[in-house]
Amino acid sequence: QLIKLTDYEETPYVIETVSLVFKLHAEATEVVSTLSLHPRARTPAGTALELDGDELKLLSIKLNGTPLEDDAYDAAPDKLVVHNPPTEPFKLEITTQINPAANTRLMGLYLSDGIYCTQCEAEGFRRITYYYDRPDALSVFTTRIEADKASNPILLGNGNPQETGRIDGTDRHFAVWHDPHPKPAYLFALVAGDLTCISEKYTTASGKPVDLNIYVEKGNEQRAGWSMDSLVRSMRWDEKTFGREYDLDVFNIVAVSAFNMGAMENKGLNIFNDKYILANSETATDLDYEGIETVVAHEYFHNWTGNRITCREWFQLCLKEGLTVFRDQEFSSDERSRPVKRIADVVRLKSRQFPEDQGPLSHPVRPTEYKEINNFYTATVYDKGAELVRMIKTILGADGFRKGMDLYFERHDGDASTIEDFIKCFEEANDTDLSHFSLWYHQSGTPHLKASSSYDEAAKTFTLELEQTTPATPGQPEKEPFFIPVRFGLVGPNGEDIAYSKAEGARVDGDLLCLTERKQTVVFHGIGSKPVPSLLREFSAPVKLEAGLNRHEQIFLMRHDIDPFNRWQAAQTLMSEMLIEMTNGDIPAGKDAFISALANMAEDENLDHAFRGFGLMLPSEKDIALEIGKDVDTDAIGAARDAFAKEIGASLYDTFERIYSAIEVSETFSPDAASAGKRSLKLRCLYYMAASGIEGSAALTKAHFDAADNMTDRMGALNLLVTWNLEGAKDGLQAFEKRHQGTALAMDKWLSIAAGAPNEDAVSTIRTLTEHPAFSWDIPNRVYSLIGGFLGSNTRGFHKADGSGYDYLAEITLHLDKNNPQVASRLVKSFGSWKNMNAERRVKAKAALERILNADQQLSTDVKEIVERCLD
Ligand code: ARG
Ligand code: ZN
Repeated sequence: QLIKLTDYEETPYVIETVSLVFKLHAEATEVVSTLSLHPRARTPAGTALELDGDELKLLSIKLNGTPLEDDAYDAAPDKLVVHNPPTEPFKLEITTQINPAANTRLMGLYLSDGIYCTQCEAEGFRRITYYYDRPDALSVFTTRIEADKASNPILLGNGNPQETGRIDGTDRHFAVWHDPHPKPAYLFALVAGDLTCISEKYTTASGKPVDLNIYVEKGNEQRAGWSMDSLVRSMRWDEKTFGREYDLDVFNIVAVSAFNMGAMENKGLNIFNDKYILANSETATDLDYEGIETVVAHEYFHNWTGNRITCREWFQLCLKEGLTVFRDQEFSSDERSRPVKRIADVVRLKSRQFPEDQGPLSHPVRPTEYKEINNFYTATVYDKGAELVRMIKTILGADGFRKGMDLYFERHDGDASTIEDFIKCFEEANDTDLSHFSLWYHQSGTPHLKASSSYDEAAKTFTLELEQTTPATPGQPEKEPFFIPVRFGLVGPNGEDIAYSKAEGARVDGDLLCLTERKQTVVFHGIGSKPVPSLLREFSAPVKLEAGLNRHEQIFLMRHDIDPFNRWQAAQTLMSEMLIEMTNGDIPAGKDAFISALANMAEDENLDHAFRGFGLMLPSEKDIALEIGKDVDTDAIGAARDAFAKEIGASLYDTFERIYSAIEVSETFSPDAASAGKRSLKLRCLYYMAASGIEGSAALTKAHFDAADNMTDRMGALNLLVTWNLEGAKDGLQAFEKRHQGTALAMDKWLSIAAGAPNEDAVSTIRTLTEHPAFSWDIPNRVYSLIGGFLGSNTRGFHKADGSGYDYLAEITLHLDKNNPQVASRLVKSFGSWKNMNAERRVKAKAALERILNADQQLSTDVKEIVERCLD
């Protein structure tokens, strides 16, 4: 069934309050839900009350205290219909029975390692009880949890704790939680189990005390400190930056090991994949620490952007997700280095969102139809959604942006809102019109921006021609031009920006140029010498830029641009162009000049270490494949990239060795950005040295591995040993396994390294690893590490010309779909790039997709929707 935005209607009844009683038992939990309802004024008498369910078993149903007659309702596993409800306010008491132990989908109430927990977004609450399981049905929740006391000493719910006690004559106890803030069911949560916590007292800016607790399995409390630190910093930041304070007496976080996604912002009770809570230097990399800081902040920020103001329906998902990603990105930029964070976010956008937007799975940031909403928790909704918010800030300026946000919080607190509501706040607060800009929410695809320029020495004018085109995407054959904010500079021969006296042909204000038409010519006056245009500084819009610069000019920007982002971008563009030429068997012009510029950038002490590390980063094989875009031969790309790395490593070996030895990281481990930057630059130098094949480099890499006293260095070096297939790789893998066996999150790294290794017979390697005790099909983190690692980083293995990678993905999709459709569907999205491959590969991929569709098994809506869209 296709769900359409245009079909939106209000519920005929309003649920004012919900009172839930959970009698927890692993295989038969009873849920008593008492709803206070009333019909809306406009609801005709006799309108049936229809509530959502999913695999539910109804035990009893009472209306105003009296059991309903059989013919007064219909109960199916997926739906409860009450015929002819009262026209006055009434109470409905619904008792259902569910089986948390058998819940392998990890939606609704399930057991993770003996801990009861819930995941209700997007539509999991209907697996607990019959309800209006939609984000615009806001209600006040009270939850009573009853469980065996010895095995579940901790009982947590949303809101504030009310009452606890023993249940007379049993080994059981109870806790009552009350959440005063009306909320949709997707924000409901419950946790029960044998957990321990770390705690901290927090006082909000206005002086309100809050108890902060992070709950983990016993023995893991030493690994939760960084999360608590991140939480406290997030809370302060949101007060300072957006004037947002926390609004309950307690804020609880729980880490569980079986979780489909990253984490969930349930009101007052965030539940996390333990990967985003647990960290110490022995088991977590710098990237993990960064990820934890980001996700803890993200979920906390949802308290205002998502919970206090939620979405009218799921088409508005980007209203909370895009905005909250933007907020967490800003937080990390303020806590760390802004340019480095921007580069990291753009790398992520280009590697995840661009492929999505340029393939069969492309959809608007605000889609208009879906079959399975879980398939729309995408890079487009999240990351492109964040870019759109960023553009609003770029267009309005920091103050104008803040004014709009203030109005949004003020006007829509307590609402289930839409993107239109959001945009209107910026328009009204700034007395401006954003209607053209809003097209970004509705029109899918990555715009292509092509620039060319000329200089007239006599007239002292510089003319810039800009042309935008957006290729057709599914359902949108014709495209309108976007409103594109282009931050720019005209870089003079000495590296400084040249000031212009006047600009004509587009809306230009200082360093911001806004394009509104398909093709625009901008003339800058008063330009005394020929500049090199630096366009799209800070990546001011999510577009593909063809800057129209020659190699010499790109190298110039790489050396001199005052915008660090564009220095990095220039290096990337050069690498990407050269790699494509090498893939085609050509020898790139200007290669030596580029390599020496790269050396200068790597050695530039004025730049921070993390930036220099990013500067040296080669585009991934996947990035290059996307850039080539059609008839791709992944083997040729891989070979070219290996050769380029080897060549850079060999010609700059001494430089890399010098940088590598000169950087000193403090003895005691610290995850701060500066120390992490040092480790990353050292490892990047080691990457090229290891690639060079020069004598001693393998030993150096192995020595780095052996000497490592933290996971970043240990994993980084092991990855190099394995990637470049160096002597010591096997020993390293064994040593790592011996050291970390029993620590699941550490072994995930081992699985992902092994999965990414270039290998003649990658699929059989993966198959063998699925038998390893560290692996399990039932824990999403294990699957994402091994299978996700193979699909995501082993480009040559997955896209092997014989089709073995495609066949394997078809096989495991069908396998996983039986138990956990969300995980299966996430993996099968890797087929999204199949149309870009060469004919030989396309035939195999198409056959594998068809095999999924025609398999002799009931497919989930999740997988079916993705496969059908891929084939369309
Ligand atoms: N709202 C969560 C977050 O981004 C993600 C929940 C996704 N859940 C799902 N079933 N798709 O913070
Ligand atoms: Zn989110």
